[in-house]
Amino acid sequence: MAIRNVVQIGNEILRKTSKPVREFDEKLWELLDDMRETMVKNDGCGLAAVQVGILKRIVVLDVNHMKMELINPVIIDAFGEQIEREGCLSCKGQNGYVKRPKEVTVKAQDRYGNEFILTGVDLLARAVSHELDHLDGVLFVDKVIEDYKVNKGKGKK
Ligand code: CO
Repeated sequence: MAIRNVVQIGNEILRKTSKPVREFDEKLWELLDDMRETMVKNDGCGLAAVQVGILKRIVVLDVNHMKMELINPVIIDAFGEQIEREGCLSCKGQNGYVKRPKEVTVKAQDRYGNEFILTGVDLLARAVSHELDHLDGVLFVDKVIEDYKVNKGKGKK
């Protein structure tokens, strides 16, 4: 396993649309392992492949002491709303309040290609929404509620 560099805002790749994963092979598993290690090392609760420079629809999460891998994830249901402060490993030093669904249900594949469904509330719903945005080139700074602005300083990554 290896720690990979996290691409920072301003790099054009973060604005690109990631492509579906077709091969569930050792190369994918190595990327997933590296992404998890990189996320943990940077104290993040989520990371998308584009953030390590790979335009594939892959997300890793570390929420509520649970590590998850979502490949080709699609939101199939969303309910309610929450407004909380968030940040991003690709926007170091920035955070702001963003409105997200309170509950999200996502369909995805695991590292072997098996489909599963995951429902998350609160922080997990927020993290899933944030990471899935990355797959379509969207950053949280695009969605910060104007009144709150983007504050410099501490905040959840
Ligand atoms: Co992010």
